[in-house]
Amino acid sequence: MSSTKLYSTREVKLLEPGSRARVRGWVYRHRDLGGKVFIVVRDSEGILQMIASEAYTPREYIEEARRATIESSIIGEGVVARDPRAPGGVELRLERFEIVGLASDFPIKGGESIDYLLDIRHLWIRSRKLTAVMKIRDTIHGAFREFFKSRGFWEVSPPMLTQAAVEGGATLFKVDFFGRPAYLTQSAQLYLEVLIYSLEKVWTLAPSFRAERSRTRRHLYEYWHLEAEEAWVHMDGEMKLVEDLVAYTTRRVLDEKLEELSFLKRDTEKLEQATKPPYPRIRYEEAIELLRRKGVDINYGDDLGADEERLLTEYFDTPFFITHFPLELKSFYMKPDPHNPREALAFDLLAPEGIGEIVGGSEREDDYERLLNSITSRGLDPKDYEWYLDLRRYGSVPHSGFGLGVERYIMWVAGLDHIRDAIPFPRFRDRLYP
Ligand code: 4AD
Ligand code: MG
Repeated sequence: MSSTKLYSTREVKLLEPGSRARVRGWVYRHRDLGGKVFIVVRDSEGILQMIASEAYTPREYIEEARRATIESSIIGEGVVARDPRAPGGVELRLERFEIVGLASDFPIKGGESIDYLLDIRHLWIRSRKLTAVMKIRDTIHGAFREFFKSRGFWEVSPPMLTQAAVEGGATLFKVDFFGRPAYLTQSAQLYLEVLIYSLEKVWTLAPSFRAERSRTRRHLYEYWHLEAEEAWVHMDGEMKLVEDLVAYTTRRVLDEKLEELSFLKRDTEKLEQATKPPYPRIRYEEAIELLRRKGVDINYGDDLGADEERLLTEYFDTPFFITHFPLELKSFYMKPDPHNPREALAFDLLAPEGIGEIVGGSEREDDYERLLNSITSRGLDPKDYEWYLDLRRYGSVPHSGFGLGVERYIMWVAGLDHIRDAIPFPRFRDRLYP
């Protein structure tokens, strides 16, 4: 072999025509025209066409190229040439060809059902679409981290095994913890609240678990939750933080993942609009009014479900906030609005284009007696929350926080019509394999 370096499909495209290179990857498309074998190879960076031809490839390597099945791993060596007909305008004219791992008949050929594809998610995950989404997700994770660092937040690590509910008992996953009941966390919030007394501004990116009862396009049973909590901040300040975070992260995706967005055929104008906060704010009661105007039979006090949220997104081109929900629709920890104690100092951020809620946040109840009342009036056992109540006994401060559903946000950024493709291994009621 003339050189030992193994090139990726992208690196090869940077070489001068006429250069020699050894390139590795997996067979993505294969076409045997007798005298010529066309092989499109894919790797993590893209695709490259290789050609084995009687004109320049020794017979034994043409035979080897002919044998290379879809998804076989291969190494091809040859001369780089420009050809406008090749994807990306570059091809490799093979002088040697080697199958590293011969693939059995690959089960994905096009036209399979979603259920079947989910059964073989470990193979489906190689698709260019899912690869593009995972790369966008990587940029998003990096942007979160940089955003919080630039704002003086500390990254912390809360537990996943907990002894009480945060977001209501209905969606708790119970596990047997040495004979005692324990639960997979629904949200790190209560632990983040503990940590603001030492660090003041904290954030985490961790899984949350919800045993959802309804099956929808936007619910997972295990999802990644970006959560933050800050001391000395009221609801307005927290909403500003949320819109800055979403705008910053969206900007980063536009700047770094344009190729992936265009592969996914995402309309980036919609994302551009989201990079310019502030976002519109409406109160819950206005949302009810907007829905009634669309003919929805809904009254003050009713919850907003996926359908209602979708209708509301028709009024907005950017993400938008809904604030001041009726207290009884929200969790026990939320602080009532002092001007209208029937309403919570709570906000949701909804993504446009039919997506709906991507963030839930609020100012937290910081008064011991009122928090205790809220816990007992919802039928929760104050004993489970003694440590949480302690935070109101020892130097309580006004504080606020939020949680962003990472896959919900990815759905919107990447323009996905179902949340399953925003996460490599989606968990649903009937899906734990692979
Ligand atoms: O609105 P939620 O339930 O709020 C909380 O958990 C707060 N304790 C967060 C906090 O203030 N620290 O959940 C927050 C977000 C939702 O807006 C949604 O984006 C996402 O989590 N989410 C889900 N994503 C996917 N699948 C599910 N089953 C989800 N449930 C909530
Ligand atoms: Mg919510």
